[in-house]
Amino acid sequence: MRKTLIAANWKMHLATHEASVLVHRLHQHINGHRDVEIILAPSMLTLQPISVELDRRRFRLAAQNAYHKDEGGYTGEVSFSMLHGLVHYVIIGHSERRIYFNESLEDVRDKVAAAVRNGIVPMLCTGETKQERDAGETRQVLHDQVTTAISGLTAQEVSEMVIAYEPVWAISTFGGELAKPTDVARELAFIRHQISELYGEATAIQVRILYGGSVNEHTAAGYLALEDCDGALVGSASLNYRSFAAIADVAFKLRHQA
Ligand code: PGA
Repeated sequence: MRKTLIAANWKMHLATHEASVLVHRLHQHINGHRDVEIILAPSMLTLQPISVELDRRRFRLAAQNAYHKDEGGYTGEVSFSMLHGLVHYVIIGHSERRIYFNESLEDVRDKVAAAVRNGIVPMLCTGETKQERDAGETRQVLHDQVTTAISGLTAQEVSEMVIAYEPVWAISTFGGELAKPTDVARELAFIRHQISELYGEATAIQVRILYGGSVNEHTAAGYLALEDCDGALVGSASLNYRSFAAIADVAFKLRHQA
């Protein structure tokens, strides 16, 4: 059975010393659970110092972005090859990157390929904007985002990756409208169906699909209980250790019941 993943996508302004305090608190408040994996994604600057403080048996690290070339003169960039050994996952194509940094479908595809090439598991973010949703384009957007991003991968590589469905309008920094679990269920199933069409049922069963968008300790259970939901990508609520630990508790309890 797939593990449940609870991932914290910390904000840029969470400075290293604050992240360090947060990690300390999370060590106190989150106990290990064999069926639940807790992932922390701090800013690039904070990854290295946090990595030496972290109990790696209980927490895994993720980067929030990286550059798709492995070497060369690309002033200011950090490559996936540089992150090898430091992080287990990299978040790729988060809506903030697609919107504020104009990352295209092809940019995201190149980053997914670079992550896999360097032994890092991609956490591909997908999701439609409010405008796209209102225009009835959600399925088309998800189809394009998923198929382009994974187009260069083998079935084995796809089966090991993580895909997050994060409708842009539900993300707190873009409005934070609460998505209904029934709507989320349909889109998660659609993403898994896409994988099945391209790579077959066995691959689709293994790929881990997360939900993200204003997940907090009150809303988490509604999403985590969905059949196709393998976890949550948590932004704002992950800055508060009580909220984040409470979300992890929800995941533990649901796994216990299963
Ligand atoms: P949110 O962010 O939980 O604050 O909506 C989600 C994210 O940053 O991926």
